[in-house]
Amino acid sequence: MSFDVWSSAVWQNLVAQAKLPLNLRQEFAADPARAERFTLEACGITLDYSKNLITTGIWQNLLQLAEASPLAHKRQQMFAGDKINTSENRSVWHTALRAPLGGDLTLDGVEISAEISQCHAQMYDLVNQLNAQTYLGYTGQVITDLIWIGIGGSLLGPQMAAEALTPYNISPVKIHFAGNIDGAVVSDVVKPLDPATTLVFVASKSFGTEETKQNALAVRQWFIDNGADKAAIARHFWATSSNIKAAAEFGIESSNILPMWDWVGGRYSLWSAIGFPLCLMLGVSQFNQLLAGAHAMDQHFLQAPLAQNMPVILALLGVWYINGLGCQAQALLPYSHYLRLLPSYVQQLDMESNGKSVNIDGDALNEATAPVIWGDAGTNGQHAYHQLLHQSALAIPADFILPIKPAHDLQDHHLRLAAHCFAQTQALMQGKTLAEATAEVKATGASDEQAAILAPHKVSPGNKPSNTLLLPELSPFYLGALIALYEHKVFVQGVLWDINSFDQWGVELGKQLSTPIYQVLSGQQQHGFDASTEQLIARFSR
Ligand code: F6P
Repeated sequence: MSFDVWSSAVWQNLVAQAKLPLNLRQEFAADPARAERFTLEACGITLDYSKNLITTGIWQNLLQLAEASPLAHKRQQMFAGDKINTSENRSVWHTALRAPLGGDLTLDGVEISAEISQCHAQMYDLVNQLNAQTYLGYTGQVITDLIWIGIGGSLLGPQMAAEALTPYNISPVKIHFAGNIDGAVVSDVVKPLDPATTLVFVASKSFGTEETKQNALAVRQWFIDNGADKAAIARHFWATSSNIKAAAEFGIESSNILPMWDWVGGRYSLWSAIGFPLCLMLGVSQFNQLLAGAHAMDQHFLQAPLAQNMPVILALLGVWYINGLGCQAQALLPYSHYLRLLPSYVQQLDMESNGKSVNIDGDALNEATAPVIWGDAGTNGQHAYHQLLHQSALAIPADFILPIKPAHDLQDHHLRLAAHCFAQTQALMQGKTLAEATAEVKATGASDEQAAILAPHKVSPGNKPSNTLLLPELSPFYLGALIALYEHKVFVQGVLWDINSFDQWGVELGKQLSTPIYQVLSGQQQHGFDASTEQLIARFSR
């Protein structure tokens, strides 16, 4: 029988504490050791979680909750390759892809280290040829561009990480990502390119995803329209998929198909051949640093006691806000231009994993699960939506992420960026009282009457929670560790909510319904949709 978080005595205790007032300013004033106590370092990453709506008592209870939950058992099951994705009868073993090879990695009696090594060898061979410019296209010209076609987990990870690691790019090959079925994407991608110097990768675990297939067909047609024959296409098209048959039927040579395994979920697949674009841009040794960083975080997650376990801490804070304090959103605010795609990546990771309303046995949940993840790179948001963070009645916990060492020489820019990052967390936490706002207005020479009118508009309630994560620098190693940190946070929350974080049945309905609508839009007779959909189809088609 599974552990019921919500009926446990420790949770009831937390519910009682959630009703008590808690003022962060006062907590800091009363406890000089608070910042130090609620800060830890793991894999070189610092997490300051002192600006959260917790007291020592609340925190101890949250840790007890994790202790009483089946977390240790489920974590051990995941790292052992057990089939914890029960609704799809699959293992969840992305951590094996970043473990040093040669260990004991046996799944259903099959030693998978050899398969992983072979996949890496194939990847590295192609990467080395492309980077040495010895892989020639069908006209004998050097390959200068790579089009990566995929969507969701087959795109967001490599795209986000490629952006994040821009300064580490050592490849002469330019990478272009194509995901959306909006034809503007593929049209724009191919426009400046020449098929003779372009390699194409079709990345799809299922090789059945409509967007990816449609975009792959369009790019293949672009090759044909430019005079490429079957042999040319065979030379220029590669794939990574677990559906070798479908990839072969599409016309991709079996020697050009890199494997994906059903024990790697799409949104956890960055570490597989889905990471090929990264490996290409970084070169093999820097790519291995990314894997090493993720592996270091895996080891931390496995070994650190719960009270010093960074993914567990982030997960418990999230559960406290969602289920204890009723927060529905979580902002992710990287103070790093290069990390600007991280919120989109974590959106899929978190919301597709934990946006569920039944437990692992299929029974309805009474409590909310995943938050709405949103955000963008700082300081941009400060001139836009931070207004709501500071002064609205909503409490939106925010993770601020800042690399300490910049990847550029503009040191003063970096000091200002860091100052804004820290100032935001400080402002959210301490706010501005009416007395402070009144004094501020009066200091400008305003009368008492004028101050009384303006000051209320300047009040910030404060008490708004945030975490601050400091990375020594945005290198492949620390990025790997950061991604694994969020992966494991999501895992821990899934355990506490007793859900399967590794399926995504919710995305299927929209896919199913689009087929008959497409049939009507493309000229086939079929009706029986709801009145709104019928009307939209009619207006679109007239
Ligand atoms: O539609 C959701 C989803 O299945 C994601 O989970 C997955 O990452 C994405 O589509 C792409 O799937 P595939 O790699 O099979 O094309």
